Amino acid sequence: MEKETNAAVFASGGGSNFQALIDKKDEGKLHVNFAVLIGNNSKAKAFERARNHSIPTLHIAPGHFEDENEYTEKLLSELESRNIDLIVLAGYMKMIPRAMIQKYHNRIINIHPALLPSFGGVGMYGKRVHQAVLDYGAKVSGITVHFVDEEYDRGPIILQETAEVLDDDTAETLAERVLKIEHANYWRAVEAFAQGTIRVEGRKVIGKI
Ligand code: GAR
Repeated sequence: MEKETNAAVFASGGGSNFQALIDKKDEGKLHVNFAVLIGNNSKAKAFERARNHSIPTLHIAPGHFEDENEYTEKLLSELESRNIDLIVLAGYMKMIPRAMIQKYHNRIINIHPALLPSFGGVGMYGKRVHQAVLDYGAKVSGITVHFVDEEYDRGPIILQETAEVLDDDTAETLAERVLKIEHANYWRAVEAFAQGTIRVEGRKVIGKI
């Protein structure tokens, strides 16, 4: 049998996407080994979820280090020592160091709660994204799963799914609808990576999801 993909999950908050991935693994649909959960906030529920499933955790925050180099080196050495093949961002709200993006080129996956390239970029996370969608008057929103490159929310798109925007939506109700779509779909992109059924050609991700 081929070696299972070793994944590191990065999360800052509730980690409901992380939980959905764990559940898909438990259902036998997702074939990755969750080698470690890394987060900048050890009180985040994502840490509790990892512990509940005996997934090792690492609390690493940029503020713990003298400078960005030290922070980057710590992250890289932890990833290397665990033979990480894939990094899954699941509501991770800190910038990923450039050296890490370059080393794990097309091996870092992010989920964004809107249809990129709209409603993305610096400062666009969580509720702010949904509020921006509503303020603009967009009729559909959705999710984008993409590889991470040097620019925020710009890397090659692996999958997108749409969500209806209703006349009486608030950022909360839209977030809830979009989050369900995130949970139902993020694992598909992770599994496609793990199974090696997708490849990147320029900006395009080609293959079977
Ligand atoms: C998710 O909606 C995710 O798409 C979003 O944060 C939420 C995390 O929820 N990510 C971003 O906005 C990234 N720009 P979770 O912690 O419950 O998975």
